[in-house]
Amino acid sequence: MSPPREQSYFVGDVEHFPGIGRIPFEGLSSDNPLAFRLYNETRIVGGKSMREHLRFAVCYWHSFCNAGADAFGRDTRIHSWQRHADALTRAQVRLDAAFEFFSKLGVPYYCFHDVDLAPEDDDILRHERQLAHMVALTKERQAATGVQLLWGIANLCTHPRYAHGAASNPDFSVVARAAAQVKSALDATMALNGLNFVFWNGRDGYASSLNTQMKRERENLARFLAMARDYGRSIGFKGNFLVEPKPVEPMKQLYDVDAATVIAFLKEFDLHRDFKVNVEANHAQLAGHGFAHDVQVCIDANMLGSIDANYGNPQNRWDTVHFPLNQRENVAVMLALLRDGGLKRGGLNLDAKLRRESTDPADLFIAHIGAMDAFAHALLAAEALLKRSPLESWRQHRYRSFDTGPGAEFVRGELSLSQLHQLSQRADIQRQTGSQEAYENLVNQYIAKHH
Ligand code: XUL
Ligand code: CO
Repeated sequence: MSPPREQSYFVGDVEHFPGIGRIPFEGLSSDNPLAFRLYNETRIVGGKSMREHLRFAVCYWHSFCNAGADAFGRDTRIHSWQRHADALTRAQVRLDAAFEFFSKLGVPYYCFHDVDLAPEDDDILRHERQLAHMVALTKERQAATGVQLLWGIANLCTHPRYAHGAASNPDFSVVARAAAQVKSALDATMALNGLNFVFWNGRDGYASSLNTQMKRERENLARFLAMARDYGRSIGFKGNFLVEPKPVEPMKQLYDVDAATVIAFLKEFDLHRDFKVNVEANHAQLAGHGFAHDVQVCIDANMLGSIDANYGNPQNRWDTVHFPLNQRENVAVMLALLRDGGLKRGGLNLDAKLRRESTDPADLFIAHIGAMDAFAHALLAAEALLKRSPLESWRQHRYRSFDTGPGAEFVRGELSLSQLHQLSQRADIQRQTGSQEAYENLVNQYIAKHH
């Protein structure tokens, strides 16, 4: 049941999205662009509500800070919250707009960078004062709306001081400044009961191997993460620390290339008990992987923290962060998550941005509604595939030779290489079909059938 339409969902003095109320669930027969067709937050799927399964978050940066600028042109959207000359006033008004949006959309979570919430400032003490001021206001908005913080992060990428990286910067003074920023972002995340704290240090990598001591930089990066962990635990932060992989852009080579690389890095430096991975779909694509692949790599290593759900444009190989409407990928991800028992402390953060040409305030709602409906649909299809289709038995059957006989002895570690050599002389070597087409058709069938 959606809350009554007449309830007021704006928390500040001004309504930033007038004419738009709480987004209702209207079902597939509705053509209303400002309604959900498939995401019905209270609908129970496999014993849990859609809201609990999908744990959607809205990201502050693309939705409330970005206004359409790209490398070739200026902002195209004029946000009501950007019309103030003073940066702190802008941040306050933006906060009200953001919480109006979160609660009208009906998402349980949001995510922010320190500099999304409070103005960036070269003076670290002033930055901290302003951040603490904004955290106090944010706390009130969280209490008023029930919207919670999925994760916080320090932006260690945008400011020119981070041109050569943050934690892996060749200059210690920058490393120390980055640490100060992480400390205050962690304090903010802790004060707001954030569930996780993310590191995407966008420039920790290199532009040229010629001027770079990679071993030293990676060691400094690990030391930096360990310090953040120790500080976080010392102030009582119980959440997960997450590292978000990305292979390239803005640097030629980033150290956190993909999920497998990050997991190996965390294990190399003994960080894997406190740190997990924040998988982003577009980044996995840039690394030459599928979204579902990187999610599965993390699940298999018990290292999945959370997900940034979006999609890249395969034509331009750039981090264009479209809203995640690719159903084949979304279903594959939901299959992996459902088999693993769900997202746990993580969520589906809609780390995506409006196209530059989309300039109507309603577009922000429409984009999020589309992504939420897409994942709701993927959830329904995946649940049905697991419970009511032959998918799992087909997969099980494919590996049946390991269930009994010498295959099972092999799995139990009871056979040596010489014994396999002997066995292979006696055994008939099987050739079975992979039947990929049948699996693909089954997924399409269940996408069409289940809503
Ligand atoms: C950058 C990216 C960021 C991080 C947070 O490519 O995905 O939005 O998720 O800094
Ligand atoms: Co991201």
